[in-house]
Amino acid sequence: MKLFKHILCSSLLLMGFGSQAQQASMDGFITELLGKMTLEEKIGQLNLVTGGEATTGSVVSTDVEAKIKAGQIGGIFSMSSPAKIRKAQELAVQHSRLKIPIIFGMDVIHGYKTVFPIPLGLAATWDMPLIQQTARVSAIEASADGINWTFSPMVDISRDPRWGRISEGSGEDTYLTSRIAQEMVWGYQGKDLSQPNTLLACVKHFALYGAGEAGRDYNSTDMSLHRMYNEYLPPYKAALDAGALSVMTSFNDINGVPATANRWLLTDLLRQDWGFNGLVVTDYTAVNELIDHGLGDLQQVSALSLNAGVDMDMVGEGFLTTLKQSLEQGKVNMEAIDRACRYVLEAKYRLGLFADPYRYCNEERAKKEIFTPEHRALARKAAAKSFVLLKNESQTLPLKKQGTVAVIGPLANTGANMPGTWSVSADHANTQTLVEGMKEVLGKQVNITSHLGANLSDDAALQERSTMFGRTIPRDDRDPQLLIEEALQLAQSADVIVAALGESSEMSGESSSRTDLNIPASQRRLLEALLKTGKPVVLVLFTGRPLTLSWEDQHVPAILNVWFGGTETGKAVADVLFGDVNPSGKLPATFPQNVGQIPLYYAHKNTGRPLAEGTWFQKFRSNYLDVSNEPLYPFGFGLSYSKFDYSGLKLSHPELNSEGSLEVQVDVTNSGNYDGEEVVQLYIRDMVGSVTRPVKELKNFQKVFLKKGESKRVKFNITVEDLKFYDQQLKHIAEPGDFKVFIGGNSRDVLSGDFKLIN
Ligand code: BGC
Repeated sequence: MKLFKHILCSSLLLMGFGSQAQQASMDGFITELLGKMTLEEKIGQLNLVTGGEATTGSVVSTDVEAKIKAGQIGGIFSMSSPAKIRKAQELAVQHSRLKIPIIFGMDVIHGYKTVFPIPLGLAATWDMPLIQQTARVSAIEASADGINWTFSPMVDISRDPRWGRISEGSGEDTYLTSRIAQEMVWGYQGKDLSQPNTLLACVKHFALYGAGEAGRDYNSTDMSLHRMYNEYLPPYKAALDAGALSVMTSFNDINGVPATANRWLLTDLLRQDWGFNGLVVTDYTAVNELIDHGLGDLQQVSALSLNAGVDMDMVGEGFLTTLKQSLEQGKVNMEAIDRACRYVLEAKYRLGLFADPYRYCNEERAKKEIFTPEHRALARKAAAKSFVLLKNESQTLPLKKQGTVAVIGPLANTGANMPGTWSVSADHANTQTLVEGMKEVLGKQVNITSHLGANLSDDAALQERSTMFGRTIPRDDRDPQLLIEEALQLAQSADVIVAALGESSEMSGESSSRTDLNIPASQRRLLEALLKTGKPVVLVLFTGRPLTLSWEDQHVPAILNVWFGGTETGKAVADVLFGDVNPSGKLPATFPQNVGQIPLYYAHKNTGRPLAEGTWFQKFRSNYLDVSNEPLYPFGFGLSYSKFDYSGLKLSHPELNSEGSLEVQVDVTNSGNYDGEEVVQLYIRDMVGSVTRPVKELKNFQKVFLKKGESKRVKFNITVEDLKFYDQQLKHIAEPGDFKVFIGGNSRDVLSGDFKLIN
């Protein structure tokens, strides 16, 4: 108790000190504490266990309780509620010898009880203040429920939509993902991490997890340093530069060495080159998985992992059970254990847990600050802004608030599938279905009817694998044709058909890779039948990844991609379908025409045999015999009920030097009939370089609101920083020469101008 009081007083005194003084006091405090710790207690701090029912059962289960008391647990994750967390914390601060508080983690990925769109959907908003707000609200809710550490943001670039976890990140682009990573860190950690409504952010999965071969989860990654530095590493770095104080290692190997045992990655790059001084935690049992990677037995891989730079071992207890022996045998040294322990203790210190271990356990806050009407309103707004209008022939949308709308498909009546993958804290049973949300918004104005129409998939076993964790979808195992006929009968009396089709929420996310990215055949047949009625059909597409929609694009008049929009999806879909909100989402990842084109991304290299623009096939050029090189929908694409025209691209100077800046401007006019938002995107191409450079790279964007008929001059500054890349020696440089700048509403349809970088 005496030590605890001392801890409390010194920490309280520290708050409000300048950062250097704060750092010095933290160092002093932790050095003193480390001096009092036994080897076992130090190793105990490196042990992160789960409080989730799936693995260890509740925290009061005997082994966890005993371990806490023995100082063998540094952190617990997947446990929530102030009462439970208080109880676990009491075990540590009242019963363990040194009374070191526990850190409590959780996967707060896109909201807590109030769930926002899946990260890929949030990225489609291109709305940076909004994204930061969603992270802030997530932190407020989770911290009110006792949690102080989130395993987010996930910033893995992915150009392979077969990979289910593309849904958890911000898509294919380095710049967009980096911007979002920063906003999320600022939102979670707030201005002062020691405030009780903040969460320690954890950047994951370090590194290159999104580049696994063939989009198969947990698969190997093999990548040149050139690509790594220029395309895949910047978002992790951006999150750290924004102040993120923890990093999670990834499951995959990188050029032959698994990330969790990769000293080059975790020490040379992360600590030495980037100067990171926060906590490195593994992913779930990633140390143990090094055995299957073929690096040795548990003792061997635990030592490798610690020596590589890992501080905290998630779930597998390799550190807990083997590090003492490894120290005795000289396989690890005391400095490495002290280093890891220091980083764990520092995270707790920074969160203010030494000052008050119960600061996140406030039942009153939990009652007042979770799932509030304000938070839900933000979720509704974010959802509506995340939707991407992919097609809208003859202004099928917006719909009129009148008559009968038949909502047909497997996604029409499932609340559990609305929040999306990783919404682990959401109350799925209480989440509105699409039909319920639409009825609430449209009241008596529109008569809404609904029918299943088709199963998620004809394959019941596939449907079972795709609706895990309680994300059930009604299933009807009668003859599929019968379901379609019943749906058609219902559609007879409707004015408009809304086809609610696509993926279930667990068809994307972890361990949900797919090789076929079409809408499942059962649903396609339903869609074909609905189209034959001759009534207007709107496809409301649920998906956690880019799908292959060539057939749908040819045949369906209107397609609104709604991803998984979170707790308020139903109402937000109604807002957009009926024109209360004008869609403004833009794709953060390319939609290919077919799976064979993957990986397909806009920032590709030109090659020595590029296709001439506007052509399809040319012999001996870089292309395919059977499909054009074009995507179905390019990166940055998304329609509006209005129309935005771009004109008058102008550069302030034809040249730029390394100290100066260049202004580029364009006039954007809303020439349609609705007020709306447009994401004005700026891309650059370096025309000649010492290494090959992408044909276009996003370097800036602005989301602007334009009333109907309004024009705005949108201006950007370009500086030498925008032109830098990693050269063959991995030096971050800009090379003098010719550049092109492009501005437009997506990565394909752009205006262009030229400038030179001079010495
Ligand atoms: C996932 C991580 C997650 C962790 C803890 C792992 O399986 O890869 O993203 O943070 O579990 O739940």
